[in-house]
Amino acid sequence: MEQQKRYGHFDDQHREYVITDPQTPWPWINYLGNEDFFSLISNTAGGYSFYKDAKFRRITRYRYNNVPMDNGGRYFYIKDGDTVWNPGWKPCKTPLDFYECRHGMSYTRITGRKNGVEASVLFFVPLKKWAEVQKLTLKNESSETKTLKLFSFEEWCLWNAATDMENFQRNFSTGEVEIEGSTIYHKTEYRERRNHYAFYHVNTPIQGFDTDRETFVGLYNEFADPQAVMEGKPRNSHAHGWSPIASHYIEVTLKPGESKDFVFLLGYIENEQDEKFEAPQMINKKKAHALIAELDSTAKVDKAFAELCEYWDALLNIYKVRTGNDKLDRMVNIWNQYQCMVTFNFSRSASFFESGVGRGMGFRDSNQDLVGFVHQIPPRARQRIIDIASTQFPDGGCYHQYQPLTKRGNNDIGGGFNDDPCWLIFGTVAYIKETGDFSILDEMVPFDNQPGSEVTLFEHLKISMDHVIKNLGPHMLPLIGRADWNDCLNLNCFSWDPNESFQTTENVSEGTKAESLMIAGLFVVTGKDYVALCKKIGKADEAARMQKAVDEMIEAVKKHGWDGEWYLRAYDFYGRKIGSNECEEAKIFIESQGWCTMAEIGAEDGMVAKSLDSCKKYLECEHGMVLNNPAFTKYIYEYGEISSYPEGYKENAGIFCHNNPWVIIGECLAGRGNDAWSHYAKILPSYVEEKYQTLHKVEPYVNCQMVAGKDAYKPGEGKNSWLTGTAAWMWYTVSEFILGIKPDYDGIRIDPCLPETATDYTVQRKFREADYEITIHPNGAQKGVKQIVVDGKPIDGTVIPYSAGKHVVEVTM
Ligand code: GLC
Ligand code: GLC
Repeated sequence: MEQQKRYGHFDDQHREYVITDPQTPWPWINYLGNEDFFSLISNTAGGYSFYKDAKFRRITRYRYNNVPMDNGGRYFYIKDGDTVWNPGWKPCKTPLDFYECRHGMSYTRITGRKNGVEASVLFFVPLKKWAEVQKLTLKNESSETKTLKLFSFEEWCLWNAATDMENFQRNFSTGEVEIEGSTIYHKTEYRERRNHYAFYHVNTPIQGFDTDRETFVGLYNEFADPQAVMEGKPRNSHAHGWSPIASHYIEVTLKPGESKDFVFLLGYIENEQDEKFEAPQMINKKKAHALIAELDSTAKVDKAFAELCEYWDALLNIYKVRTGNDKLDRMVNIWNQYQCMVTFNFSRSASFFESGVGRGMGFRDSNQDLVGFVHQIPPRARQRIIDIASTQFPDGGCYHQYQPLTKRGNNDIGGGFNDDPCWLIFGTVAYIKETGDFSILDEMVPFDNQPGSEVTLFEHLKISMDHVIKNLGPHMLPLIGRADWNDCLNLNCFSWDPNESFQTTENVSEGTKAESLMIAGLFVVTGKDYVALCKKIGKADEAARMQKAVDEMIEAVKKHGWDGEWYLRAYDFYGRKIGSNECEEAKIFIESQGWCTMAEIGAEDGMVAKSLDSCKKYLECEHGMVLNNPAFTKYIYEYGEISSYPEGYKENAGIFCHNNPWVIIGECLAGRGNDAWSHYAKILPSYVEEKYQTLHKVEPYVNCQMVAGKDAYKPGEGKNSWLTGTAAWMWYTVSEFILGIKPDYDGIRIDPCLPETATDYTVQRKFREADYEITIHPNGAQKGVKQIVVDGKPIDGTVIPYSAGKHVVEVTM
């Protein structure tokens, strides 16, 4: 293989990824913010900010899929004589003497040097603050005094990111700003129904400003050469309608060796209805002044940054491994956990592949994401479960999505995805095992957010299971509904109209025979969990009732779901097999192999081993396992969106990283550590980083949803980075099944499954009020714990019984 160009490297000590060339093969981004105020930031400072909801409270404007790519962001223009440059290279693209972007845990630091001047910007959102800090440090490294002209730049979005992009007959007349000292306020629509505004402040007197885009940039210029900047003269423009922006102009003189800090603050404020105005037409700025006062000096900002770093220290101290393999350790200890928190905050809403105006929070997605962060933020996970369950319908079905701002189910997409209910059990069980907090089961939770409809959360779990049982098809397998986990296997859709959405079109379902083996496996896995939970809380009858349903499902799969070498994928509307050797294309699918092997269905008859072998034989390739094989080469009306994708992409035989861990867990349960590891390493970002920076294209420090499969034009090319269930599944797989540290109701279960080359390793795990240091001695074994010694005393079995305090554990395999 030819040597691929490198664009950066890991810095584990600082928990950063260091990008050394701004011209990455695709924007490599990071996320700022942890609670309410969020930003996306690329390695050239592109991106945008929003408050809670990327659609309804977009603060700054961004143009997706633009030319050039990643156009718009927070830009600092430095005019030094005739040279104009930006610390992040873009948008001027003036060649820099030095460039570096360090993406860290909820912060990004971009540094550029040109002609003896260094400009370094630290971007972060302080904890509990509704603001993005941009601390710019300018340093004169030359031997002469420098007089620089500094322009900042942000472009306001008119709040609703969707209408902002389309309703120009209105938008071009509504924009309003106020300017007060060094603060520019954006108050579009504040005069009517909005109680919120934004501001952009700098902690130094300014010598000019601009708030009207065309006046600043010039209609025939671009972000790369704004007229005001090129001429070194701000226009002091006041926006009325059109496109409001915020730009400060500051004259800076630096002696040789001198450096100066500037704190820029992009803030968001909400006012009470009766405190909106301080004078007619003038917004009440009291809260803005208070927020600014909290962050108006280098010392205050540095303190806020230190707090953010401590917050991440604490989060990442909960599960830490030392294996001696840097590539594994950095993913487990840093990046995988970080990505999980990002999916907690953003679900599938805002990335450089998700525009923030489409999807809110997914019912299934958010439940799965939970296993990735429940150990870090249990109280927030608890709230998340309640929020999700509150969007369930009384029959156990669920809204497929809800909006984070309102927490209401999303009517545009509705329900009918028949795997959704099971995920509530998956998430809730993970929460209780981590925390021991059974009280969540007694929480009163409404249906469809309707007051008065509340039942206990346990009742929600029960109707979730029942929803599957009440919707069985002719083979006693679960009816698929609109789709199961695979949003693109639309068996009741039948669409010839390109204007119809595959997600929401369900032309026929009356009399359908479309059944899903993926849901069958999911039902068995979550059903076993549900049974164990019922036993645990003394509901023996309910446990027995559901055990019977689980047993029946297992029988149905063995009888009607086995194709000889692997599990079938589904039955179509007419009751014909999908994912069978009898099929012309797509003879085997990954989802049912993953779920039925995780459920260990037919293990005693060799089904599990055969299925796992078939995955290796037919699905595996250099970059991971593809979703189906062979790929569909034509559109199949009866199957829907899956066959709409060209071969090797997305759900048509792409490597959908999200589902690879299912098979890996199947391998782990079967004790096949070598195979589990080899599948895992293929999609582990740090291994990909080492080999394929150019080919892979997207960020090498996180997983992406999809890597082009073996049938694609360019196998190995990644897409849709960051917001993917892959993060949680990779975490769940490595932390619990490979490294084998599994939270359980009464303690921590130890059950690693390792490659035979594994050497001794230590996991530090905080668990409830306890702190465990667990050292595992694999001794060449792939699976099987022989003995566990806790604080010097051997214990029976493989569960370390929970007790608060510090414990040292030795595990011999
Ligand atoms: C996307 C969706 C997820 C779905 C998957 C497969 O990642 O967010 O809900 O399961 O695609 O279609
Ligand atoms: C498309 C994508 C799928 C995603 C869905 C969400 O079908 O292929 O991955 O889950 O859209 O609406």
